[in-house]
Amino acid sequence: MSYPFQVRTREEYDAAYKKSVEDPEGFWADVADTFVWKKRWDKTLEWNFTGPDVKWFAGGKLNITENCLDRHLATRGNEPAIIWEPNDPEEHHHIFTYKALHHKVMQFANVLKNNGVKKGDRVCIYMGMVPELAIAVLACARIGAIHSVIFGGFSAQSIADRLQDAQAEYVVTCDGAYRGNKDIPLKSVIDDALVQCRFVKRVVVLTRTRIPVSMLKGRDVWWEDEIKKVETMGNPDCPAEEMDAEDPLFILYTSGSTGKPKGVVHTCGGYMVYTTYSFVNVFQYKPDDIHFCTADIGWITGHSYIVYGPLCAGATSLIFEGVPTWPDAGRFWSIVDKYKVNILYTAPTAIRSLMSFGTGPVNAHSLESLRVLGTVGEPINEEAWHWYDEHIGKGRCPIVDTWWQTETGGTMISNLAGVTPSKPSYATLPLPGIQPVLVDEQGNELQGNGVTGNLCIKFPWPSIIRTTWGDHERCRTNYFATYPGMYFTGDGCLRDEEGFYRITGRVDDVLNVSGHRIGTAEVENAINMHAGVIESAVVGYPHDIKGQGIYAYVIYDGTHHDPALTRQDIAQTVGRIIGPIARPDKVQFVPGLPKTRSGKIMRRILRKIAEGETENLGDTSTLLDPGVVEEIKKGKV
Ligand code: WT7
Repeated sequence: MSYPFQVRTREEYDAAYKKSVEDPEGFWADVADTFVWKKRWDKTLEWNFTGPDVKWFAGGKLNITENCLDRHLATRGNEPAIIWEPNDPEEHHHIFTYKALHHKVMQFANVLKNNGVKKGDRVCIYMGMVPELAIAVLACARIGAIHSVIFGGFSAQSIADRLQDAQAEYVVTCDGAYRGNKDIPLKSVIDDALVQCRFVKRVVVLTRTRIPVSMLKGRDVWWEDEIKKVETMGNPDCPAEEMDAEDPLFILYTSGSTGKPKGVVHTCGGYMVYTTYSFVNVFQYKPDDIHFCTADIGWITGHSYIVYGPLCAGATSLIFEGVPTWPDAGRFWSIVDKYKVNILYTAPTAIRSLMSFGTGPVNAHSLESLRVLGTVGEPINEEAWHWYDEHIGKGRCPIVDTWWQTETGGTMISNLAGVTPSKPSYATLPLPGIQPVLVDEQGNELQGNGVTGNLCIKFPWPSIIRTTWGDHERCRTNYFATYPGMYFTGDGCLRDEEGFYRITGRVDDVLNVSGHRIGTAEVENAINMHAGVIESAVVGYPHDIKGQGIYAYVIYDGTHHDPALTRQDIAQTVGRIIGPIARPDKVQFVPGLPKTRSGKIMRRILRKIAEGETENLGDTSTLLDPGVVEEIKKGKV
């Protein structure tokens, strides 16, 4: 495959950027023309950010799986599409060629159809990192069903909330999942969720760990049995459903600063174009490169850069079932050597965690196949950047620091490997087609270099969020109302003297814990459900490995059996309501919370105390009861 839209030099980058601003429609039409469309679009872009109402490639007809699979069959049919490395290094790995993956996707698409799934229906996928997860995702796309993948670390309650919000009548899951030395009982979690979701008609269960599971007559079926049924029907084909460019492709739930997680909606045409374009450009993908993205497919990174971007580009994408530290802290490095991985894309959290084991586990491996390294999900500190550069990249691999969000669909600001310069802790420059701006609190655009402000994007790109499922107004108020006429990211950002962008972190009440996005309000609601809790306030604090840890201040009026145990009970409640990833790291019992006279919690003060600051807490004169601050300082955990 060749990629006519791949920018290969700094001069080409500058020229592409200029063209993308002067003639965005011409720029994106050229990129989109390299894909397979069942019918070409009528109008490249129609948009306003007041609705918001954004349509890319309107009137175009396509199916993304024809671009991920069918179009590669003639040229790359026998090349590996997916390499799957199991949790246990002793277990056999699997390689799926494009032909094999195409066949499996059509088979499972027929299973979905046999079970009543139709175009536009929502299918919830709750699985471990097995190849069938990618197959299930693509099978949905094949028949035009809207997938909603839920990360395996979410609780039954979180699943029930998402199933209800999406009105998903179909679920695909596994009996269990292997992660390191743990076996996670996924089907059992689904069973708990479905007690509240009687509208679910069918649950397809893949065998993985073969732990005992309950199978409800009339509702639950085994993946393997259903495959056998479609095999005996003879015709393995499943034609790709004709989709409108603006038909929804998937929903992915993500946390905001208020309320329950919202369902970010991406559509077929624009998402396909942008994920492929950004994949090829950021990593400077070359045919036959082995790409290893360590994210979970339950997050947007896995959707865009394990499944859709790489497969549309005809790449080889490695899926790893396990965790970086099991059976030992050299697992990533042994995978790199085993498959001669060329591109490694991971999170700063993973790098910091592996750093803590020293260079021993690294030096046992050669890593000579590596050509490009990437990071995503949170700001990378300079120390981790240099360690990654020196010990993993051996000083010869460019590191791409990719800034983006669930809502943006693909990477927005990043250096292009070996093409534009890198700078430790900087995402650096926008991709051609992306127009970032920094604004002050009043929404004035900050001109020139050497400025810090809130990061907005002032022109649409093909994979911009279209809506939040079932609640368009929420999409408007969350992203398009703070600064009218712009998409607001929620991130703070510096543009330095050279014009390079450095993301400084969220400016709203959203935490980033190990690269996972968690709303403070969501955690507070969960804590407040614990018996005896009167009120709580949650803030982030710097954590050496996770980036941010969760610090909870709790007013508690229940029976203290033992404060240490009660703290654990509270964490347990949060684990039940949201999932283990949202469990607070620290819980402090407080007599009151610092509030203004109007009753607003002053989080700024709580953040400072959680950071260990005792002196400079800023202006406390507007507090209703300044005395409470002293009490909180004394009780810090
Ligand atoms: C938030 C989005 C993008 C996929 C994974 C996370 C933070 C993301 C970077 C980066 C600094 C980053 C931002 C953003 N973030 N990448 N390279 N440098 N911060 O997706 O869960 O939607 O979270 O992650 O704060 O807003 P997400």
